[in-house]
Amino acid sequence: MTQKRQILVTSALPYANGGIHLGHMVEHIQTDIWVRFQKSRGHECYYVCADDTHGTPVMLAAQKQGVTPEEMIASVRESHLADFTGFGIGYDNYYSTHSPENEALSRQIYLALKQNGKIESRTIEQLFDPEKKLFLPDRFVKGECPKCHAQDQYGDNCEVCGATYSPTELIKPYSAISGATPVLKESEHFFFKLGDCADYLKQWTAGTSTLIDGCQQPHLQAEALNKMNEWLQTDQLNDWDISRDAPYFGFEIPDAPNKYFYVWLDAPIGYMASFKNLCDRIGIDFDSWFKTDTTTEMYHFIGKDILYFHALFWPATLKYADLREPTGVFAHGFLTVDGQKMSKSRGTFITAHSYLEQKLNPEWLRYYFAAKLNSKIEDLDLNLTDFVARVNSDLVGKYVNIAARAAGFISKRFQGKLTDVSSSKLLSQLQAQSESIAASYEAREYARALREIMALADVVNEYVDANKPWELARQEGEDARLQQVCSELINAFRILTVYLSPVLPNLATEAAAFLNVAPLQWSDSKSILPAGHNINHYQHLMQRVEAKQMDDLVAANKQNIQTAQTTTVENKYEPVAPTVSFDDFMKIDMRVAKVLACEKVEGSSKLLKFKLDLGFEQRTVFSGIAASYPEPDKLVGRMVIMVVNFAARKMAKFGFSEGMITSASGNDQLFLLDVDSGAQPGMKVG
Ligand code: 2FM
Ligand code: ZN
Repeated sequence: MTQKRQILVTSALPYANGGIHLGHMVEHIQTDIWVRFQKSRGHECYYVCADDTHGTPVMLAAQKQGVTPEEMIASVRESHLADFTGFGIGYDNYYSTHSPENEALSRQIYLALKQNGKIESRTIEQLFDPEKKLFLPDRFVKGECPKCHAQDQYGDNCEVCGATYSPTELIKPYSAISGATPVLKESEHFFFKLGDCADYLKQWTAGTSTLIDGCQQPHLQAEALNKMNEWLQTDQLNDWDISRDAPYFGFEIPDAPNKYFYVWLDAPIGYMASFKNLCDRIGIDFDSWFKTDTTTEMYHFIGKDILYFHALFWPATLKYADLREPTGVFAHGFLTVDGQKMSKSRGTFITAHSYLEQKLNPEWLRYYFAAKLNSKIEDLDLNLTDFVARVNSDLVGKYVNIAARAAGFISKRFQGKLTDVSSSKLLSQLQAQSESIAASYEAREYARALREIMALADVVNEYVDANKPWELARQEGEDARLQQVCSELINAFRILTVYLSPVLPNLATEAAAFLNVAPLQWSDSKSILPAGHNINHYQHLMQRVEAKQMDDLVAANKQNIQTAQTTTVENKYEPVAPTVSFDDFMKIDMRVAKVLACEKVEGSSKLLKFKLDLGFEQRTVFSGIAASYPEPDKLVGRMVIMVVNFAARKMAKFGFSEGMITSASGNDQLFLLDVDSGAQPGMKVG
């Protein structure tokens, strides 16, 4: 190693309202390999990530579950981290954007942008849900496409004809949350004047950073730069709306009550916050990493869909907050499975959890992804047949077998001792590739690195076939030769393990235990185990993958969605109940009732407790609608329709319910029935 570099690396922060699937794993595995490689080379490298916790979707998902956003994000973070850890992703910190560090940094950065004249406030008109009383993000407005007239299209683009438009152009728009017709409403918003930053961004996107070892690191990949140029040259750099109105789950903007930072403002700052949290815990000087003249490096691994945020908004945010900019932004393509977009109905939308639950070896997937990854923004295909073939032939057939073929002889015939092989030509040939393989990892050309490594494994296997240790073992007077060949093979296996260690960290740890050596570093590929070194008893290091395991994986993911789909369909159209007579119907006594009081029930996330006025008397009723009505006090004063001749029911430990409140149900939500004005409590329905 020439000079010790200081490197901060991130993967994009997963949203806290969804699970982790193999698409996420492409990125986190890609990042983890790079980080492990840098650490193995002896550099000071930190890998941070976090959950992206803010925004309307997270807020609504928590409401739907009947929990607070804080409760929801805490449990989601735990499951995200379990999934990532299961795949051997070795973050130095996995934090949350809903943290004190992130709040402080977001405020600091916002105030610096303001100080530098980059923040402006403007009044804009936006669609508002009059029932839920919130401004609707584009994805939460649906309606008829203005171009092709397809129904139920999102507010930003049509999935049928591909048209893009603004939500106000939708025909017969409705709120995807409540179904209400949205209204246009004015509100003051804060904008980051990105339009002013075009010259700076043209320069930054095309620029490079000089690393301490003198290397030039382009800020963007060539394809990313082309894409950014398209945007920058058409002068489409609009000012960026960075505020959202309450109710919103996020950080309040300083001196602007009820205004919150838009989730995409504080999300990348979450990279810094996660690092700050780490620095404070282990004693690193955080500020020195973010000064404009720092010699430290900062890289972001991201998907191609969020380039805009990382290649334009984020560098501009840092620049005008007087902080260092990224050294490089590394985008990758999307994951396809068997050549097609991942699909829930085909079972190819594979969750990380299902893979781990089926007890599939995570290092198979790490190897397979690595074998297909390069530095370009290309989609990566997980071909399930090819996956089985490649893992079995490369990892088990070519690499692990080298140890398996030599270890038994060393253990049984030579008490586990190696002999001197310091002048082995085979080993020199393997060692000669060390820097070239390192260069491939450094350049994120993992497929190339693995091709080089597997070509070396082929050379070693040819050496086995040429020297036939099993025959030497049967011949008189060939002991020395047998020990020498097998010692060469054990050393060859060790060198190949060093080369594969960024991709297969668990296997490398187990191999080091078998080889009876300290955890392997890149520099170990340049040495040879000395004569007399004792290895441990060999236990098989990796099983083969069976095609059936892939079938089971797909089946497991298909099942999940089939259950989910059936539920949705049933929810949408409940089967019509058997016919009843008029007399039977009239037995049900339904009345208009007025809500006098309504509150949450301690100890139940489902129930609300109502005090209802029927005119002739008052009743207490428990209703399981808490998830759909998170603010029960807002129901006070409204009318509901109640079944009054229902036998009183005991609601667990909470008391008796003296009737039932009617509601419509569908899409996992409940909707209370209303009555036109003029109706009085106690009036009969029917
Ligand atoms: O697209 C996403 O999944 C975002 N949650 C990524 C955020 S990355 C960073 F900017 F925080
Ligand atoms: Zn359309």
